[in-house]
Amino acid sequence: MNAPNKYNILSSDDPKNIVLFYPHIPKKAVDYVNDTLHSRWIGQGPKVELFEQKFYQRFTAPNISLTVGSGTDALHLSYILAGLKEGDEVIAPVFTCMATNIPLLYIGAKIKFADIQLNTLNIDPKHVAQLVNENTKAIVCVHYGGLPCDMIELQSIAEKWNIPIIEDAAHAIGAKYQDKSIGSISDFTTFSFQGIKHITTGDGGMIALKDNKLMDKAKRIRWFGIDRSMRQLGLWENDISEIGYKYQMTDISAAMGLAAMEEIEDTLALRKQLFNEYEKRLKNIPGVQFLGAGYTDREHAAWLCTIVAEKRSELQNKLLENKIESKQVHYRNDRYSIFGGRQNNLTNMDLIEDKYLVLPMHTKIIIEQVEKVCSVIKSGW
Ligand SMILES: Cc1ncc(COP(=O)(O)O)c(C=O)c1O
Repeated sequence: MNAPNKYNILSSDDPKNIVLFYPHIPKKAVDYVNDTLHSRWIGQGPKVELFEQKFYQRFTAPNISLTVGSGTDALHLSYILAGLKEGDEVIAPVFTCMATNIPLLYIGAKIKFADIQLNTLNIDPKHVAQLVNENTKAIVCVHYGGLPCDMIELQSIAEKWNIPIIEDAAHAIGAKYQDKSIGSISDFTTFSFQGIKHITTGDGGMIALKDNKLMDKAKRIRWFGIDRSMRQLGLWENDISEIGYKYQMTDISAAMGLAAMEEIEDTLALRKQLFNEYEKRLKNIPGVQFLGAGYTDREHAAWLCTIVAEKRSELQNKLLENKIESKQVHYRNDRYSIFGGRQNNLTNMDLIEDKYLVLPMHTKIIIEQVEKVCSVIKSGW
């Protein structure tokens, strides 16, 4: 028997181990990267633009797509483009990857953490409505695991106060809300192509922008504040009038992104099949709540499969004894001292923080392995 180890990590070399995540590398990615390595452009070049077009056509139209170096870059650049400044109040989810919130600290914004909904772990619009005031300059939401947030409710708050919504859709490539693709709805939506996402470019990200007029500025800020197209035409006059940084994607990454776009429908279908299988097998087990299923007004992108259960660490040990990895993946952000310490107004987060658990889901998992995970859970812990 495989004793629980300190880090809850299993080796993926042993095929009997059911690991939590595994990168999805499309068949053509190696060829496309190889071609790129033998071309003139390995940095930001034509493949970056092509990847933006393909992503735009499939996920973000009519909003424009712009690639960046990571999902974190996408968030930071969106916050800058949204005009956030030092001292501005921003309502943001407490339960997310710290990447959602750390760029707000860089800007010097004052984060007001909003609580979660117990049945989705998404931001709770009721709490957002209590927190919003005349100093609030933006609302950030995260579609946890791939399930879209209550966008209508969030939009009505944002419209009332005339502030933008920034959707962190790092988990939500392919998700839909009321038949609209995530990426096509708000002023800003950000995506991540980090190692274990639906699409990976090693690291990478995308911004979807509603306002066409912001595009030129976005492109300049993505590259030091310089207009690259003018520079390539030889017309660059050497002035930089706004502060930019180096947020751009490379053609090596975009080559992986292009290969991933060719099989994205299969990737999404497979993940949804696994998610549905988990739901079917877990929904009637006493003591287990399966999150994110049963919605008719929105479509889950099936990035994470999350359950809520009592005695979580005992369950994790039981899973590990059966060669199955499980984790929390994200933690409440107010546990990190950079965010100012634990808040006392997040009752749902308090209730659930010791109970949620993420189960293995990726494109290397087969249905029999899902069955195994579910039958181990069913046998009790
Ligand atoms: C919700 C969320 N937002 C943002 C990010 C950051 O994306 P990246 O790792 O591509 O910078 C992640 C994780 O990767 C995430 O899970």
